Amino acid sequence: MKTGWSSLLVVVGLLILLTYLLIQSRSPDPVRRARLHAALHEFKLHDAELNRDVLLTRTGLLPHYDSLHQSLATMFRALEVLEAWQTEAPGVIRAAMAEPVADLRAVVLNKETLLEYFKSDNALLQNSLMYFAHTSYALSTQPDARHGRLTTLAGALSNAMLRFVRTPQRQVREEIEVLLNGLPTGSPRQQDLQLLDVHGRLILEVLPKVDNLLRQLLLAPTTAEARQLQDAALQHLGSLEARAQFFRVMLYTVAILLLVYLVYLLIRLRANTHALEQTNADLHREMAERTQLEHKTRQQELQLIQANKMTALGTVVAGVAHEINNPNQLVLMNARVLDDAWTDAARVLDFYYEENGDFVMGGLPYGEMRQTIPDLIHDTHDGARRIDRIVNHLKDFARPRGQVGQETFDLNDAVGRAVGLLQHVIQKRTTRFRVELGEDLPRLQGDLQHVEQVVVNLVVNALEALPVPECGVAVTTRYCEAEHSLQLDVKDDGIGVPPEHLDRLCDPFFTTKQEQGGTGLGLAITYTLVRDHGGHLTFESIPGQGTCARVMLPCAS
Ligand SMILES: Nc1ncnc2c1ncn2[C@@H]1O[C@H](COP(=O)(O)OP(=O)(O)O)[C@@H](O)[C@H]1O
Ligand SMILES: [Mg+2]
Repeated sequence: MKTGWSSLLVVVGLLILLTYLLIQSRSPDPVRRARLHAALHEFKLHDAELNRDVLLTRTGLLPHYDSLHQSLATMFRALEVLEAWQTEAPGVIRAAMAEPVADLRAVVLNKETLLEYFKSDNALLQNSLMYFAHTSYALSTQPDARHGRLTTLAGALSNAMLRFVRTPQRQVREEIEVLLNGLPTGSPRQQDLQLLDVHGRLILEVLPKVDNLLRQLLLAPTTAEARQLQDAALQHLGSLEARAQFFRVMLYTVAILLLVYLVYLLIRLRANTHALEQTNADLHREMAERTQLEHKTRQQELQLIQANKMTALGTVVAGVAHEINNPNQLVLMNARVLDDAWTDAARVLDFYYEENGDFVMGGLPYGEMRQTIPDLIHDTHDGARRIDRIVNHLKDFARPRGQVGQETFDLNDAVGRAVGLLQHVIQKRTTRFRVELGEDLPRLQGDLQHVEQVVVNLVVNALEALPVPECGVAVTTRYCEAEHSLQLDVKDDGIGVPPEHLDRLCDPFFTTKQEQGGTGLGLAITYTLVRDHGGHLTFESIPGQGTCARVMLPCAS
C-alpha cells in the first residue's frame, strides 16, 4: 500500500515536471519575430529612400517634398511597430530592448528636425539660385553694345556661381564676392543688378548651411541604430531559443525517465500479480485441506458422542434388563402352567355346565368365558416372550466392553453362517439375493458369533426395507489395503432412509417399525459389536432407491 502511494507520487511528480518543461521549451513566438523583421526592414528601406530624396531635393531634381514626408511617416509607423513589439515582449527582452528602441526614436526625431531646417533653407536656396540664374542669363544675353562690360560681368558671375554650387570652395566664394562688389551702380539695369546682388549673396550664405544640413541628414545614425536594435533583438531571441532548446532536451530526458519508470512499475506489477496468484492458490489448497480435516474431526467427534451415549445407556439398560428378566421368567413359566391347568379345569367345568346349565365366571357367562380364557393365557404368554426377546437384546447391548473373544476367523465364514440362518426369511422377502465374497481375505480377530450377529442384523433390516420381492439385496466382502481392514457391504434396493434419520439409526429404541414388532435395538447392538472389534459402521442412503450399510473391521495383527 505504502509502495503504491510512493509510486503514484513519483509518477505525478514527473508529470508536473514534464508540464513545466513543456511550457519552458516553447520557442519565441515566430509571428512576433516576423513582425520585428518586417518593421526593421521597412524602417531601413525608407530611411535609404529619404536620404536619396534629400540628395535629389538638394540638386533641385525633386520639385516638392511629398516623398520626403511619406518616407518619414513610414519610418515613424515602423518605429511604432517596434515600440509595440518591445512593450509586448517577455520580461527579459522588454527590459533589454527598452534602450535601443528609445535611442532609435531619438535619432529619428533628430532627423525630422534636421529635415525641417533643410527643407526651409533649401527652398530659399533653390529660389535664389533660380532668380540668380534667370537674372544673370537676362543680363548676359542683352543685345545693347553699351552694356558690354555688364554682359561680361554677368557671364563671369554666372560661371563662378555655377562652380560654387558644384563645389563651394573659399576661393570661389571670394571670387564671387569680388565680382558682386564690383557691380556697377547707376546703370539702366539697376533693378536686375540689385536682384543679382541680393540673391548672389543669399546663395553664398545659405548654400553652405544647406550642404551642412544635408551632410548631417545623411550622417544621421538612424540605420546604425536600427541595425543595433536588430542585433540586440536577435541576440536576445537567440538566447531565448537556446534556453528553450535546453528545456526541450530536459523534456525528452524526463519523458524517457517516466517511460522507464512506468515499464519498471509494469514489470513489478506483473511479478506481484504472479505472487498473489500463487498465494491465492496456496490459500485455496490450505482451505480445502482444512475443511477435509475439520470433516474428519467432526466424524470422530460424532463417533465419540455415540460411543459415550452407548456406554452410559449400556450401564442403565443392564440394570433394567436384570430387574425385568426375573419376574418375566416367572410370568412365562406361570403362563405355561396356567395353560396346562386350564386344559384340565375346562374338562371339569364343561361337565358341570352340561349338567347344571350356564353359570357366571369372572363376571361373564361360562359359555363366553370358555372361548376367552385360552386367548388370555396365550396373549400373556406371547407378551412375556416379547419382553424376554427385548431383555435378551438389551443384555447383548449392555454387555461390558473388552469381553470380545480372541479367536481369529474368516469374515466370509460369518457371512455364510448368517445367510444360512436367514435362508427362510430371504426366500420369503426377495427373489434377488446376491453374495459376493472376496478371495483370500486376511483373518479377523474377535468373536465369530458376534460378527455373524452383525451380518444377521444388517441383512434382516435390508430385507425388511424391500417393498416388493423383485427388489434385491447384495452382501459383499473385500480387503481394503489402505486401512488394512475388511469391508462388509449390505446393499439393498429398499425404501431408503430419510436424511434426518441417518444420524439416529444406531440410537437404542429408534425404530420406524413399531407396528411390525420392531424394537429399535438391532442397529444399536450392531454398532456396539462392531465397535468392540475396533471397527466402525456407516450408512449411505437415497430415499426411494436404497441403502448401503458398510462395516469396516481391522484385520488381525
Ligand atoms: N436397510 C434399511 N433400510 C431402511 N431403513 C432401515 C434399514 N436399516 C435400518 N433402518 C431403519 O433403522 C431403524 C432401526 O433399525 P433397528 O435398530 O434394526 O431396529 P428395528 O429393525 O427393530 O426397527 C429401523 O426401524 C428402520 O427405520
Ligand atoms: Mg432391525
